[in-house]
Amino acid sequence: MDKFLITGGQALEGRVVISGAKNAALPALTAALLTDERVILHNIPRVRDISTLRSLLEDLGVDTSVTHEVHGNRIEIEARQLLNPVAPYELVKQMRASVLVLGPLVARFGHARVSLPGGCAIGVRPVNLHLKGLEKLGASINFDHGYVDARASGLRGTDFYFDTISVTGTENLMMAAALADGVTTLENAAREPEVQDLAALLNKMGAQIEGAGTSQIRIRGVSRLHGTEHTVIPDRIEAGTFMVAAAITGGELALERCHSEHLTAVLSKLEEVGVRVVRETAAEANGGQTLSVKPANRLRALGLTTQEYPGFPTDMQAQYMTLMTQAEGSAVITETIFENRFMHALELARMGADITVTGRRAVVRGKTPLSGAKIQASDLRASASLVLAGLAAEGETLIDRVYHIDRGYERIEEKLTRVGARIARISESD
Ligand code: EPU
Repeated sequence: MDKFLITGGQALEGRVVISGAKNAALPALTAALLTDERVILHNIPRVRDISTLRSLLEDLGVDTSVTHEVHGNRIEIEARQLLNPVAPYELVKQMRASVLVLGPLVARFGHARVSLPGGCAIGVRPVNLHLKGLEKLGASINFDHGYVDARASGLRGTDFYFDTISVTGTENLMMAAALADGVTTLENAAREPEVQDLAALLNKMGAQIEGAGTSQIRIRGVSRLHGTEHTVIPDRIEAGTFMVAAAITGGELALERCHSEHLTAVLSKLEEVGVRVVRETAAEANGGQTLSVKPANRLRALGLTTQEYPGFPTDMQAQYMTLMTQAEGSAVITETIFENRFMHALELARMGADITVTGRRAVVRGKTPLSGAKIQASDLRASASLVLAGLAAEGETLIDRVYHIDRGYERIEEKLTRVGARIARISESD
């Protein structure tokens, strides 16, 4: 297992190109299952979750090919046939987003067998709403040997209300409903930019989807979808993570290829605590915008509550907690999306942070100096928060289990090194 060795104390300076969004790329790849024609995707981040999903698609019998481009990968997907409708436990347990094959497989081929994901490091994370929605669309759902077996001979449009807002749940049902007979209305749907990007791709494939980005999505089913070409949106969480990296080291970073309109809650919170961000007015020709993070004079502590989009994202909570260890005062951080997403707090405390966790609330008292230590990553965003702590700490930090970070950040140590960080990957074989 690889580790990161970080020597803290360097103010970061320079330019970072933000990669394509992992959480937009994953559903985009599975959307290609809805047609027998070729779908070409650009700006796909070079991260492990994408390789995992690609292996799953290949196992299903889908042809995929990858080409390097200046920005991310181009992936071509052609799902002419289905050899095997199974998403096995071994892949689903590595990556819960594998469940995104469920809706497309049932809609197009009438059968899917997907392992139930089980719990994970950040919470129970059931998929009951994906299944309830598919059932409402006319699929029959059965469970055996840890698998869900979904079958349908043609889905029918329906009205479905999400008791809890679910990002991948909304995406799965939107994809299934795209090929259903009649109109489907999804109420209390997720409004995340990644849902909007998926709807844009599906509409290019011939789907008729309205309202993505609002809590009511209306899908008029069509009998077939066709191939297309699509560039996925930039990763707003990677952008937010680098903003914190600049702020916590007292540095100055220009982040290229961002979409600031996807970052409103993050930008307003960072600005409130004292981080200065300059937005370039004109969007660049390549479809992004540069956001420049200027050195903060003094950081002040402010609490936050994670919320579904457009609220402050749970995927930035851990990074914000690290920032608050370097702010003056107390910050109460409330996590409302996942019940167990504070694993990083204990590791941060080992580095000198003063954090008390009670249930879904963490109180961070700052500013406390951080000192390098041996620590362990528990999940993707927690690992990012520990890297940030290592950059701000005095001395050396050794982070174990960085495979978590490789799931969703494209070569983070290379991007950080280029802007002056002292971070090295230590591989088992070294
Ligand atoms: N939930 C249910 N039943 C369901 C589905 C969800 O109770 O059937 C609950 C979950 O347990 C959770 C809440 O609803 O408490 C929200 O979960 P959601 O379904 O929205 O999460 P997800 O779709 O599994 C996506 C991202 C996560 C991100 C969350 C929240 C992808 C591939 N994953 O997960 O990203 O944290 O939305 O924004 O889009 C990450 O990138 O590190 C990551 C974990």
